[in-house]
Amino acid sequence: MQSKDHWEQIYTAKAADELSWFQAHAELSLRLIRNAGTPLTASIIDVGGGASTLVDDLLASGHENVTVLDLSGAALAVAQARLGSRAAAVKWLEANVLDAELPAHAYDVWHDRAVFHFLTDAASRAAYVRQVAHAVRPGGHVIVATFGPEGPTKCSGLDVVR
Ligand SMILES: C[S@@+](CC[C@H](N)C(=O)[O-])C[C@H]1O[C@@H](n2cnc3c(N)ncnc32)[C@H](O)[C@@H]1O
Repeated sequence: MQSKDHWEQIYTAKAADELSWFQAHAELSLRLIRNAGTPLTASIIDVGGGASTLVDDLLASGHENVTVLDLSGAALAVAQARLGSRAAAVKWLEANVLDAELPAHAYDVWHDRAVFHFLTDAASRAAYVRQVAHAVRPGGHVIVATFGPEGPTKCSGLDVVR
C-alpha cells in the first residue's frame, strides 16, 4: 500500500483521539517552541501535523502564521473541522514533505513530531534534510521528535528508524 493510502485509511478508520500518538495538548512541543523565543508573528510549520492539536494551541496563544503540512487530507480535515472558523487562519498543505513545493527560507520554526522516523531509507532522509535547508530561515529552529534507541520498531504499523 502506498504511504498516502495508509495514512488516509488510518485517519478515516479511527477518531483522532483513538490514535496511539494523540495528545490532548502537545505540551512538550509547545514548550520547545516557546523556549526557542518564537514571537507570535513567527512563521511556524508543523510537518506531518496530521490531526494534532498543536495548531489549536498555537492559535490560542496568539500565533498568527501557522502552516500544517500532511500527506493525509483526511487528517487535515479532522483538524479543520475541530477548529471551525479558526481554520481559516491556518495555511494547510496536503503534500509529501519530501517533494512539497515549500517557499525558500520561509519558516522560523520547523516542527515534526513522529514523521522523520518513517524515513527508513537514506535517500528519503537526505531529501528531508534538503527540504529543511531550503525552507527554514537561516537561524531558525528545527524541532524533530522521533523514537529513541529504546523506542518501538514500528509506529502505526509501519517500520521506523530509531
Ligand atoms: C504518527 S503521526 C503524528 C501526527 C502528528 N505529528 C502528531 O503528533 O499528532 C505521523 C503523521 O505524519 C504524516 N506523514 C507520514 N509521512 C509523511 C510524509 N512523507 N509527508 C507528510 N506527512 C507525512 C501522517 O499522515 C501522519 O499524520
